Amino acid sequence: MRTNAVAIAILLMVVFLVPGNGVAGVDWTRAAGMDVTLFYPGVASWEFLNSDDHRLGGREIKQMRKDCRHCHLGKGGELDLKADEIAAGSVKMKRSHNPFEPEPLPGKKGLLSADVQAAYDNEYLYIRVEWDSKGAGWSKGAKKPDRVSLQINKAEPAFRKYGCFITCHNDLNTMPESPSKKEVSANSYYGGQQRDDVRLYAFYARSAWDQRRPEGELSKKLKEGGRIDLVSVELENGAATAFDGWVFDDRRWEDKAGEASGVYTKGKYAAEFKLKLKTKDQFDLDLAEGDVVSIGMAVHDDGASKRKHYVSFPFTVGLGAPADIKAEKAR
Ligand code: HEC
Repeated sequence: MRTNAVAIAILLMVVFLVPGNGVAGVDWTRAAGMDVTLFYPGVASWEFLNSDDHRLGGREIKQMRKDCRHCHLGKGGELDLKADEIAAGSVKMKRSHNPFEPEPLPGKKGLLSADVQAAYDNEYLYIRVEWDSKGAGWSKGAKKPDRVSLQINKAEPAFRKYGCFITCHNDLNTMPESPSKKEVSANSYYGGQQRDDVRLYAFYARSAWDQRRPEGELSKKLKEGGRIDLVSVELENGAATAFDGWVFDDRRWEDKAGEASGVYTKGKYAAEFKLKLKTKDQFDLDLAEGDVVSIGMAVHDDGASKRKHYVSFPFTVGLGAPADIKAEKAR
């Protein structure tokens, strides 16, 4: 009798501590979520999006009127974009005739569908991302990792409309107008950090790789919440490594490790991010119940690196508030 009671008590503890298939205590079999279609953007940058090469799109974005989804998402939620042609390298920009992908990867498909879910409690916002994959990065002896990254912001109107595209530029590392490594390391900012690569930056924090906006403008933008939080999970050789960083006038990783995990099983990657609410870290987004955040997602799959990722249009997650995904409070 007694042993039965103990056994039941232990069983109950196990059931309550590990609900569903949750890693961090969230029951993912019940959490709110949506399918997010990511696409292969080639070298489509913020400069392309604002240019005559983007036709009507360019005019609307310059005026900050219509957002990406308004023009590129069909009524049934299907993507209206030549993603397969971009991935295959068979389509050119309308005016300049520059290729959307000058170095196509053989067999690369244009679209990738991810299942995104969210939940929160008193301490964290939890975001789970799952996608079908061959698991190239995860396999034994893989040379290049696979990866999922989220850019997150809750205040910047341009980010809400255009997502990570506001941080993607022609002069970034591996993009068509990237300055040479020699030029970059000769620049006092990059050289001072022993670096030769130009990374993501928000268009309002830098006018070009070597031109930071004036200090007054930068501090105003920071006060208004213009810094973009960045979290990432690298999936390599059977292990997941979490990173925590930010994008503003540069893309930087913080010294502290990120709070995230990931696994590859049965032909799918699943990664889970934990974002601390009410953080005191100035480089992390301060979150509370009722907030709505915008998220731009990137997935590096098939061991592809640098710019050769799939990206999403921005979508929103609400902490108990109406959004594309209305996260419910986990108990
Ligand atoms: C006002 C509508 C509009 C908006 C807003 C808009 N686009 Fe476009 N976009 C277009 C049109 C129209 C084309 C096709 C141009 C052509 O072929 O003449 C296009 C083409 C593209 C292409 C080239 C591939 C293709 O299918 O032709 C990409 C990539 C693209 N848009 C991405 C985006 C992204 C990312 C955003 C948001 C940051 C965005 N667009 C916002 C209208 C828009």
